Amino acid sequence: MLAFSRKQVLRTRIVDLNPFVANLEGLLRRLIGEDINMAFIQGQQLARVQVDTNQFEQALMNLAVNARDAMPYGGMLTVETRNTEVSTRYAEFTSVKPGKYVLISVSDTGTGMDEETRSRIFEPFFTTKESGRGTGLGLAMVYGFAKQNGGTITVYSEPDRGACFKMYLPATEAAVEEAGAATISIRARGSGVVLVVEDDTGIRDLIGEVLAEAGYEIILAADAREALERAAAFPRPIHLLLTDVVLPGMSGPELAENLKAARPELKVLFASGYSDHALLRQGAIASGAAFVPKPFDAMTLVGRVSDLLLEVS
Ligand SMILES: Nc1ncnc2c1ncn2[C@@H]1O[C@H](COP(=O)(O)OP(=O)(O)OP(=O)(O)O)[C@@H](O)[C@H]1O
Ligand SMILES: [Mg+2]
Repeated sequence: MLAFSRKQVLRTRIVDLNPFVANLEGLLRRLIGEDINMAFIQGQQLARVQVDTNQFEQALMNLAVNARDAMPYGGMLTVETRNTEVSTRYAEFTSVKPGKYVLISVSDTGTGMDEETRSRIFEPFFTTKESGRGTGLGLAMVYGFAKQNGGTITVYSEPDRGACFKMYLPATEAAVEEAGAATISIRARGSGVVLVVEDDTGIRDLIGEVLAEAGYEIILAADAREALERAAAFPRPIHLLLTDVVLPGMSGPELAENLKAARPELKVLFASGYSDHALLRQGAIASGAAFVPKPFDAMTLVGRVSDLLLEVS
């Protein structure tokens, strides 16, 4: 969890999660792909919660990506919100205080999991995905988020019967705050050309969409070989390379070196599910390299990119 909480400033605000999740629906659909259907069931008169909305967005995306991975042949993702009360008896069970909560459940019709897996999924670095695919930090982040906000997360699952994650966040009586500076900064128009290298199709499209919306011109590539081809065929300057550190074939840092030979002015932003500390220690990236930890939310991404490209526009 340290990888996530380090350096992170909590910016909580009071929100109605219904419009917030409704706004994310397009991104979530794109993330899960066309073979998976999605439903968003909005609870009536939903109570407000006080959370860091960037973190909430990240948590929801982590749950959606997991659901997608559990449904390689398609299926159904259901996101549901509702008010709920945790009774004194249930409170002992879940280690949350009795009281009013907003429940966000994320269910899928995927492969599910057995008891042994289920008991370990919130552990940092626990993954059943092949090496190089999952870091096992997704659910650790979701768990940390729920706990930091006085809530919790539970899961129900059986092999071949899908999974249902239930996140409880304490309800608050306070009135909704308007989205302030956060919304303004993401709307600020950027300019410049960004080459995005990411092997996960859903995430690559999502990054492309977010950056295009923020005003950048985007070139997408799935791996280093494709990135080199695209760059060679691109007649104008490329201002920024945004690449995963770990890629199939040539690594992100190797790719950056290669591209810089022909384009010395190119700036580089590395992304990884591993912490920058871990990567530095392994010598995977040089100290001083610009880095953004994955998973990132839209605002963090645009913020990092626009910081690096300030001089371009
Ligand atoms: N919806 C789900 N259905 C079935 N198994 C799941 C589901 N969500 C999580 N899991 C199991 O929990 C493990 C841990 O999930 P977690 O999100 O923490 O890591 P990961 O998805 O493996 O890697 P990362 O999220 O870092 O890419 C997964 O490897 C998988 O075995
Ligand atoms: Mg995951």
